[in-house]
Amino acid sequence: MAEHARTPLLGQKIAITGLTGQVAGPVATALAADNEVYGLARFSNPTRRDELTDAGVRCITADLAAGDFGALPSDIDVVLHFAVAKSADWDADQRANVEGTGLLYQHCRNARAVLHCSSTAVYQPDGHRRFAETDPLGDNHRVPAMSFMPTYSILKIAAEGVARFCARAFDLPVTIARLNVPYGRSGGWPLFQLAQVLADDPIAVHTNSPSRFNPIHDDDILATVPALVAAASTSPTIVNWAGVDEVSIEEWCGYLGELTGKSPTFVETDDALESVAVDTTRMVELIGPTSVPWRDGMRSMVEQFYPDALIASS
Ligand SMILES: NC(=O)c1ccc[n+]([C@@H]2O[C@H](COP(=O)([O-])OP(=O)(O)OC[C@H]3O[C@@H](n4cnc5c(N)ncnc54)[C@H](OP(=O)(O)O)[C@@H]3O)[C@@H](O)[C@H]2O)c1
Repeated sequence: MAEHARTPLLGQKIAITGLTGQVAGPVATALAADNEVYGLARFSNPTRRDELTDAGVRCITADLAAGDFGALPSDIDVVLHFAVAKSADWDADQRANVEGTGLLYQHCRNARAVLHCSSTAVYQPDGHRRFAETDPLGDNHRVPAMSFMPTYSILKIAAEGVARFCARAFDLPVTIARLNVPYGRSGGWPLFQLAQVLADDPIAVHTNSPSRFNPIHDDDILATVPALVAAASTSPTIVNWAGVDEVSIEEWCGYLGELTGKSPTFVETDDALESVAVDTTRMVELIGPTSVPWRDGMRSMVEQFYPDALIASS
């Protein structure tokens, strides 16, 4: 792991997008303690804006699709770009995710680093292959079950292309971090499945079982942001951003059942996301391993969201 990898971000002017979303909110509020953090979103929910302001984030209303970042200082040091539009309208989502990304990076072209949050949903599904950063890209979300977000994979790939362009055109150091399954205090996919486990609803898993992923806990996301920023390069650094524990939906739901005295049931179907397990070798070399063991992370999620459901013996 590079020596600078765990140097915290201190005294920086940081722009963070996707502020009202699952992943960026906790990162922004944590960084606001020691940095000048400017958070961008459309703030369709004004209460959320008040909460984030109270937590020390300077909230700026901005629509990526409009591309007007005039309220954001031009001397930003670090950009953390988490926003993603999933309206299912191809034109609107291209304006926000693709054009908007380029316009944001153009506005912040003097930054010393950009962390561009991508997704492991950019990989072409390939059974139980453990995807490395050099593997073929494809439309991971082209299954009927994901038809509510048809633009997702393709525009995550397109946005990576824009990030790569900006790195070269503006001499702007960029890290493209492909996030796997974020979960924890701010919820995530495993929280939806926990609700299904508690309600005795069957959980859809792919027929090519087990459905393996590398969930990454909020604490690890936050802990690795500085190292990902430090790894930025004008020849963009591309890295999987994932927990080092590879674990299947079947396993984590089984454990959630153990904790809550439930017996999860599964429906095998081709109409579900296939495994997206990833090779974390490059990540570990670059920023070190994640540290929250998956069982501890899942347990703390149950404690937070459904404390009464935890059984005493678990
Ligand atoms: N969650 C996952 O399971 C997962 C997995 C892999 C990768 N990722 C990546 O992680 C990042 C964060 O994901 P998330 O789950 O936290 O997202 P999310 O909860 O869906 O939130 C999306 C964020 O983007 C903002 N946004 C949407 N359209 C916008 C627009 N036109 N202009 C400005 N802001 C806009 C939303 O704010 P407003 O609506 O208030 O504008 C919100 O803050 C994304 O890049 C995503 O692709 C997520």
